[in-house]
Amino acid sequence: MNYMLKNTVSKDAFRYKYLLEKIFPYIKPVLGRSILNLIIAIPLGLLDGIVALSLKPYMDYVINGNPEQTWTFMGHTVYIQAWLAAVIPFGIVMFAAFQGVLKYINSYLTTWTGNKISNALKVDLFKKLTNMDTRFYDVNSSGLVLTRFLSDPETASKNVIQMLETFVATIFGLLGLVGVLLYNSWQLAVIGVAVMGIAITPVTFLRKRIKSVSNASMVVGGNMTTNFNETFGGNKIMTAYNLQKTQNRKFETQINEQFNLTMSLTKRAGWMSPIMYTVCSVGIAIVMAFGTHLILSGQLSAGSFMSFVTSLLLLYKPTKTLGNTLTSLQGVFVAMGRVFELFDMNPAITTPKNALALNGLNNSIEFKNVNFEYEKNIPVLKEFNLKVRKNETIALVGNSGGGKSTVVSLLPRFYDIKDGSIEFDGADIRKFDLTSLRNNISFVFQDNFLFTGSIRENILMGNEHASEADIQRVITMAHLDEFISTFESGIDTFVGERGITLSGGQRQRVAIARAMLKDAPVIILDEATSALDNKSEAIVQKALDNLMQNKTVFVIAHRLSTIKNADRIAVINAGELAELGTHDELMNIPDGKYKHLYEMQFKNQELTQLNN
Ligand SMILES: Nc1ncnc2c1ncn2[C@@H]1O[C@H](COP(=O)(O)OP(=O)(O)O)[C@@H](O)[C@H]1O
Ligand SMILES: [Mg+2]
Repeated sequence: MNYMLKNTVSKDAFRYKYLLEKIFPYIKPVLGRSILNLIIAIPLGLLDGIVALSLKPYMDYVINGNPEQTWTFMGHTVYIQAWLAAVIPFGIVMFAAFQGVLKYINSYLTTWTGNKISNALKVDLFKKLTNMDTRFYDVNSSGLVLTRFLSDPETASKNVIQMLETFVATIFGLLGLVGVLLYNSWQLAVIGVAVMGIAITPVTFLRKRIKSVSNASMVVGGNMTTNFNETFGGNKIMTAYNLQKTQNRKFETQINEQFNLTMSLTKRAGWMSPIMYTVCSVGIAIVMAFGTHLILSGQLSAGSFMSFVTSLLLLYKPTKTLGNTLTSLQGVFVAMGRVFELFDMNPAITTPKNALALNGLNNSIEFKNVNFEYEKNIPVLKEFNLKVRKNETIALVGNSGGGKSTVVSLLPRFYDIKDGSIEFDGADIRKFDLTSLRNNISFVFQDNFLFTGSIRENILMGNEHASEADIQRVITMAHLDEFISTFESGIDTFVGERGITLSGGQRQRVAIARAMLKDAPVIILDEATSALDNKSEAIVQKALDNLMQNKTVFVIAHRLSTIKNADRIAVINAGELAELGTHDELMNIPDGKYKHLYEMQFKNQELTQLNN
């Protein structure tokens, strides 16, 4: 499964039909209002033409009219000039007011439907993200994913609604105005429309360029976000190594890159408007010359001419809008392509059909001839075999990079193995319901993540239904009370974005309390005490000893006492099980790996411990 997201355009960006089929389910729930919105856009567009149209009678009957001319209307005699002089301006105001009301309804509906669609997309996208495998997070940068998450659904949905609405209003605006043109003089209309046509052709040439710039700035945007995240996450390293300048320079380079992209687009697109204006003015000049001829030869009234020229001038805006809309439509499809590329990614690790429920461990956990690789053809675990009995504590030791963390991360199926099997009581873990499998395993890492919230909330993540008595019990067992009592709000103390207000050892104990509440039968400790100083390590170790009671434990540690107290020790070297046995057994292997490790690493600890 390839989880790597592309930086720019997804392969689907130009499969319009496919994308529309994909987005339709999101439009469907708001379909009624979307259609209403489009229907309202029709009169909204047409009203421009009506104003232009009204100029003809105004000119012909009011300005150039005869005061004596009358109409007979339902038995009444109406003086046309006086009547129209009053009605037309009033009508124009009424129309404008009506257009205003429609515009308001229109923008309300556009915002409503656009946001509904975009929010539904985001909710599903977030669901997708939370269900992706660990691998997805290994291979994609946070900036890239974040940019996709924050901006693409907006572009793909909000803009699409906005655009449809603009499109309909514009098309009907054009139709109305062209209708007025034709009504006044078809000859002039042909000239006018032809010139308009010429004026917008350059827009179509620009589309490719715009797309490539929009992709490039997407990449730069992603890099910026990554840079930003690293400044947060890697803040200490940045400060310790005085990397502020480097980070700033990186950011400046990125922002300059973005500037250049924007300018290159403006350079290419900026002359569009002036050219369009010039071409249009040529058109208007031709129309005027020819129009004068038509008027003088009596084929056109002055009112028609005025109404015509007004329509032509009004035509400029919708024509330009249409050009722009067609151009940004490309961007919408690109965004949709990127959104649905994410949607089409399915986590490879899922609950199988007819899944078994895992309810605790009865006999053993067994790795059978396990082969595993992160990257294709780079084996990490090779023919790995290990059987761990219920309630046994097994220590995994070996050189760094040997595969210890990998072994334990296979148990909750963070990753799936290539071949072989991992079995709980003889059943392959891939047969179990994923949630129930993970409910049976607790993890304590070296650096434990605390969520934004109180200490209580963080502990309750182990088991949200825990009673107050349970909480008190684990707080004591995890040796949390001694430092919690120093806080004013106690267990309800808020821990920051990453729980950074707590020390490493304190955070560790919160994580242990969380694991205790979860009360899973299998416990995995991956270097849980490695980052701690001696004093906190001793406290955390006491907490861990409480956690480990009557559990099946995989412990990866550097602490000799932990390893010595384990029932058995597995030495993992370059992805293979090198040695397996008790401390004494392994020490008796001449030139053994454990013996070597012990002499290199653990002996000093023993001496320190003896001296203390
Ligand atoms: N998420 C990952 N993606 C790719 N390779 C990885 C990943 N995690 C670990 N590795 C590689 O797998 C090997 C074993 O790593 P690991 O299990 O972390 O070793 P240990 O815990 O024994 O130090 C190393 O070569 C490491 O580079
Ligand atoms: Mg490790």
